Amino acid sequence: MAFTCVVGLQWGDEAKGKIVDVLTPKHPFVVRFNGGANAGHTVKFEGKTFKLSILPTGILCPTATAVVGNGVVVYPPRILEELKQLTEGGVDALPRLKISTSAHVILPYHFEQERLSETGKGSGEAIGTTGRGIGPCYEDKAGRRWAIRMVDLLDEAALHQKLIPIVERKNRLFKALDPNAKQFDAAELAREFAGYGNILRENICDTQALMGECSDSRVGVLFEAAQGSLLDLDHGSFPYVTSSNSSAAGIWSGSGFPARKLDTTYGIVKAYTTRVGGGPMPTELLDGPEGIGEKIRQVGREFGTVTGRPRRVGWLDAVALKHTARLNDADVLCLMLLDVLSGHPELKIAVGYEIDGKPYSGFPSDAAILARCNPVYETLPGWSEDITGARKPSDLPQAALNYIRRVSELVGRPVAVASVGPDRAQTIWMNGGEGA
Ligand code: GDP
Ligand code: IMO
Ligand code: MG
Repeated sequence: MAFTCVVGLQWGDEAKGKIVDVLTPKHPFVVRFNGGANAGHTVKFEGKTFKLSILPTGILCPTATAVVGNGVVVYPPRILEELKQLTEGGVDALPRLKISTSAHVILPYHFEQERLSETGKGSGEAIGTTGRGIGPCYEDKAGRRWAIRMVDLLDEAALHQKLIPIVERKNRLFKALDPNAKQFDAAELAREFAGYGNILRENICDTQALMGECSDSRVGVLFEAAQGSLLDLDHGSFPYVTSSNSSAAGIWSGSGFPARKLDTTYGIVKAYTTRVGGGPMPTELLDGPEGIGEKIRQVGREFGTVTGRPRRVGWLDAVALKHTARLNDADVLCLMLLDVLSGHPELKIAVGYEIDGKPYSGFPSDAAILARCNPVYETLPGWSEDITGARKPSDLPQAALNYIRRVSELVGRPVAVASVGPDRAQTIWMNGGEGA
């Protein structure tokens, strides 16, 4: 039984959900350890399309127990919506779901707080967030005094007492920032959220202890990172990041599992780069409505799962990938959406950065410096064939094989998987094996 991690090596949406779906059957437990409903994973399963944000994607596998770890920020109504979507799709998920008592709860005032800060009423500039209350909830977690955890939803009277001073201060703060800001009522919130606590009472438990037991008894666990490593709070393009450790660094703190025991880390890489929201992206293609960027956006359907925003599109960035492959100690890479690159005479990969014409070494941790980096490109021949029907390496055109090989060389990790479409069957294992 293996301990496996699936982590995005770019700015999210690398198609982690598809690889999780492929790997889950070999793992009795699947675990989310970071983020919340800012994630959006689209997975095709038995002919149906599921869109999951907060529940682990692995919950689609009927043998898996799905864990929402302590590092996740939970908006309970969203959990209930996703459970309903699964029930309607024929997946009985509730009995297989465990939510950490220590996971922090997103309350409606977090949405208002995010709206205020993203519209310039709070501090600083807009980050281009997903509007799911993620940042404000993590702020309250780090601040400790205004935090509500899943365990608090199990006792309405105690929850009400906790919420009274929090809601009073939030109301005052919001009003000071915007006279038209929404106001909240502690008793109403306590009633509503204790109601969710009642529905999920059997599911809320000590998942850290559970992870310890899996570790001791070697019961297989698959960790699903949400977002991508370039959005990691500590290791990404700060401040245009999310508010959690979205790299494998988050596993230990966000689940309680001793991450040094991981057997295999799959670094998920889209064959080009996308980014949603603000912040620098050195390889972004800004070549207009008739350009290559728009073509890739249309063919790859690059529109956000959560917000519907068009994703920014660019060439593959091997400088950024080298940084995140090392950070996560990715054992292998999965090169996703390779089919989307068909039909371009030439493909580019950023192999270095320059600032003011001088080489810049490595990937800067500060967005202001990253914004000044110009990519140095290597150009590779493209291919014209439709590769969505390829099932083994020898089905791929030579130019596609060369592209895969060059990515592996530049990033310094083997490519285990090339993905040529959203379906499970469209997964090519480059060395024959089937992974974890
Ligand atoms: P995640 O957030 O990393 O799980 O990724 P998303 O679900 O946000 O975005 C990936 C999208 O690409 C989904 O709509 C998948 O169904 C789709 N997809 C996954 N693998 C492939 C592939 O190899 N080719 C194509 N064309 N689409 C893919
Ligand atoms: P998955 O798991 C892509 C981005 C937002 C914004 C920044 C901060 O589907 O890969 P937040 O709401 O987290 O405070 O927003 O992070 N972002 C994502 N981008 N994929 C995601 O998740 C994302 N989750 C957050 O667009 O730029
Ligand atoms: Mg996504």
